[in-house]
Amino acid sequence: MPRTENLSFVGGDMFQSIPYADATLLKLVMHNWSDEDCVKILQRCREASIYNDEGRKGKVLIIDMVLNKDEDEADMTEVKLLFDVLMMVLLAGEVEN
Ligand SMILES: C[S@@+](CC[C@H](N)C(=O)[O-])C[C@H]1O[C@@H](n2cnc3c(N)ncnc32)[C@H](O)[C@@H]1O
Repeated sequence: MPRTENLSFVGGDMFQSIPYADATLLKLVMHNWSDEDCVKILQRCREASIYNDEGRKGKVLIIDMVLNKDEDEADMTEVKLLFDVLMMVLLAGEVEN
């Protein structure tokens, strides 16, 4: 994807730091990590969003699956739970951050 006037790509480890931004979007990221790691990622997001270049606070946007078994169809709940198990199997044994 090419860089544009208002979009650039910055490599790095989100557990170390996240660059300042108007908005940090985490799409299908949080479900990969333990609760403890999610807290660390959100702490880095908070640091990154306190002030941007114009002194304004940024936003953190999260797009991810949410269990809602009271309102979802049973099949949908099953898919979400299976996805959770898949993440656990795929990512088991990952190095601690
Ligand atoms: C499931 S993918 C994200 C999917 C993508 N947002 C989408 O919607 O298609 C998880 C991403 O997190 C990245 N990632 C994993 N560990 C990371 C880290 N410590 N710091 C930054 N990015 C990391 C991976 O390289 C991968 O691109």
